[in-house]
Amino acid sequence: MKNSFVIKGNLCQTIHAGELDLHPNAYAVCVNGVSKGVFETLPKEYASLPLYDYGDALIFPGMVDLHVHAPQYAFRGMCMDLELKDWLNRYTFPQEEKYENLEYAQKAYGMFVEALKKGATTRASVFATRHRYATELLMQLLEESGLVSYVGKVNMDREASEALTEESAEISAYNTFGWINATKDKFKNTYPILTPRFIPCCTDKLMEELRQIQMAYGIPVQSHLSESKGEIDFVKFLRPDNPFYGDSYNEYDLFGKNDDIGTDVKTVMAHCVWSTDEEVELMRKNGVFVAHCPASNMNLTSGIAPIRKYIDLGLNIGLGSDVAGGHSDSIFRAITDAIQVSKMYFRMVNEADKPLVFSEAFYLATKGGGAFFGKVGSFEEGYEFDAVVMDDSVLPHPQSLNLAERMERAVYLGLDEKKVTAKFVAGRKII
Ligand code: GUN
Ligand code: FE
Repeated sequence: MKNSFVIKGNLCQTIHAGELDLHPNAYAVCVNGVSKGVFETLPKEYASLPLYDYGDALIFPGMVDLHVHAPQYAFRGMCMDLELKDWLNRYTFPQEEKYENLEYAQKAYGMFVEALKKGATTRASVFATRHRYATELLMQLLEESGLVSYVGKVNMDREASEALTEESAEISAYNTFGWINATKDKFKNTYPILTPRFIPCCTDKLMEELRQIQMAYGIPVQSHLSESKGEIDFVKFLRPDNPFYGDSYNEYDLFGKNDDIGTDVKTVMAHCVWSTDEEVELMRKNGVFVAHCPASNMNLTSGIAPIRKYIDLGLNIGLGSDVAGGHSDSIFRAITDAIQVSKMYFRMVNEADKPLVFSEAFYLATKGGGAFFGKVGSFEEGYEFDAVVMDDSVLPHPQSLNLAERMERAVYLGLDEKKVTAKFVAGRKII
């Protein structure tokens, strides 16, 4: 049987938000790429499967990056002195223009994919640029890496630099058709996702074209929503008839499910820092995923997303690195950032919204975002088998620690950037 084996080690996961599920020295069984669950002693029926014994290593479900810009990886950790609009114009658009050149794209995307592969991320929802062929090249590289990803050729026909603005809505749509047709059945683990950059960069005509494309192909959607106050004011100016920002995606049926017309468009919106109650209610009703990107929200001085409120309301939520608004591609880092910003929100904004605890943020990074990909993010029976194996002996400690302590410490101290010894994606061993 392909992709069938047993792994042994210290298994750490969150089945429910707010509760660690820890199994020292236990077995996780994978059959045909799907988990059969965690066992303290190995059931006889699995005894003949190959065994990877990882000794005293830590084993986590793979991390899910629900929002990352591949072309921006090249300038991560730089250009952190401006807010969203100026940051886009001054740094981001000039960087993204370079992906017209396939030689540059090959080099820069190669580095991005290599980094993602080496770390703890097993799945990602990725923005490329507006360039069709560089996007296809990125998809090829991601496919070869073994990771599972959604990748979007970006649509943008206004409010960007001349070189990055598509010539017209029709040309944007034409290139999007070409790209989807070329990629939708080409790869096993890499799928196209419709990617209007955000409302400021998309004319009404383009949004209408994207509605048609979505209907024709049934593919999911990713974009940005209510990230910064200046952006929201600008959207209000551009689309005065929409009562709130998210309504301008919803108007084109690019905002989750719509029971009135019987559509269900899987959608992820990054940020949602300043969403109004109405917007949040529509996201809840439509099952729209929030990609919470705390590092980016700090770096671009956008604000703090009220994640406790979204959790209490039962929204679908995952974490995103938002490289290069976020400077690190590590989702371990996003976990600790999410906890830290929630503490600041609690202290500075609203003491009714309790800070996140570690197990809640870990859940968002695994099962929370994993739900965008299906049954992903834990070792429960029936889940796709994504696992990261790490050796925390590289983080010496003077006394012996229990498994909960080791798990938290591995995340806070960035073990994903130090020592990933093995990695499995849907039961395929990629490291
Ligand atoms: N809004 C539109 N484009 C972008 C982008 O590239 N990064 C972030 N953080 N927000 C955006
Ligand atoms: Fe983003």
